[in-house]
Amino acid sequence: MPKPHGGRLVDRCRLREDVDIEDAIALKVNRDRSEDVENIAHGVFSPLEGFLCYNDLENVLENMRLDDDTPWTIPIILDVNKDELKGAKEGDTIFLIADNGMVAEMEIEEIYGIDKERLAEKVYGTKDPSHPGVSMTYDMKDLFIGGRITLLKEGKKVFEDYVLWPKETRTLFREKGWKDVVAFQTRNPPHVGHEYVQKAALTFVDGLFINPLIGRKKKGDFRDEVILKAYDSLIRNYYPKNRVVMSILCTSMKYAGPREAIHHAIMRKNFGCTHFIVGRDHAGVGNFYDPYAAHRIFDEFPDLEIIPLFFRSFFYCKRCGGVVNEKICPHGKEDHINFSGTKIRQMLREGKIPPAEMMRREVAETILSFDNPFVE
Ligand code: ADX
Repeated sequence: MPKPHGGRLVDRCRLREDVDIEDAIALKVNRDRSEDVENIAHGVFSPLEGFLCYNDLENVLENMRLDDDTPWTIPIILDVNKDELKGAKEGDTIFLIADNGMVAEMEIEEIYGIDKERLAEKVYGTKDPSHPGVSMTYDMKDLFIGGRITLLKEGKKVFEDYVLWPKETRTLFREKGWKDVVAFQTRNPPHVGHEYVQKAALTFVDGLFINPLIGRKKKGDFRDEVILKAYDSLIRNYYPKNRVVMSILCTSMKYAGPREAIHHAIMRKNFGCTHFIVGRDHAGVGNFYDPYAAHRIFDEFPDLEIIPLFFRSFFYCKRCGGVVNEKICPHGKEDHINFSGTKIRQMLREGKIPPAEMMRREVAETILSFDNPFVE
């Protein structure tokens, strides 16, 4: 099992029954930020112990590393308005609170500003506000506070039964006797291409960790409960139970393509995985990234300590009579059926079951059992 990123699993949980915040400054944070707090506290973002300060952020933007050279590609930052700070200054301790009941303490180490256009361009490779990550960046408030957090109260989770933290997955993999575990990141219900990628990878290792990302997504994406139920049905019908663990990762999709692929790999290393699947257009959106840029970026991180497993795009070939990719199929495009997410979504929207070459019937039926499977 790999050591956590940075060498030590961060644990910033000091949970208490009663937290008295009466006279203190309390900053209300949204769902994305409260998920960040819990992920920091439970070590998903190890080695981060809090929100990034300026020097770390600058290094992440310019070099894709923290100030101490540890690989880190996605800014974990806390944006605030001056008014919300209510006079709090560097050196003060404030509370962070969220609608779901989450309470944390934060030691303000630094208050700083940053050019949001530059931030967006560095992370997403574009300033185009039609990119969902870019528009999210432009919507951020004008000041940023960095500093260590301590989680005092967990927020209520919608999918509590599906939550496992890195400490728990590490114990679970050890109990199962799995030495090599491959992680699969996803934001979609499984089509046959996803299943094929996972099973191809599982052939070479002891266990498969399916880790759907649950959190804010863009309009038209599948809803969280749809993804989970669809996977439940796939695993029940088609997977060897003693070789698969599924739990969720509560964080928003950034759609940052290659940079996010590295971030996804780092989090799965913290969960105790040795390998990480990177397929076609990982964490991409529209045509913003080259479909294999998320493979090439791994060349810049020989010190990542999780092994990426790269897959070319799988498709169904009518002449091969099976799922293949361009490396192993000699036939032309006219024989290929792509696992087009857009096409699958369109069929499901019309209440149709996609062909069996594209999606398992049980998975499609599960999705269609929801009144509206899509994010509005
Ligand atoms: S993602 O935003 O989480 O990357 P998605 O859930 O569709 O989107 O993909 C999960 C993983 O499966 C990613 O690594 C992606 O590259 C890979 N993938 C999706 N479709 C295919 C395919 N047809 N062939 C190979 N890999 C794929």
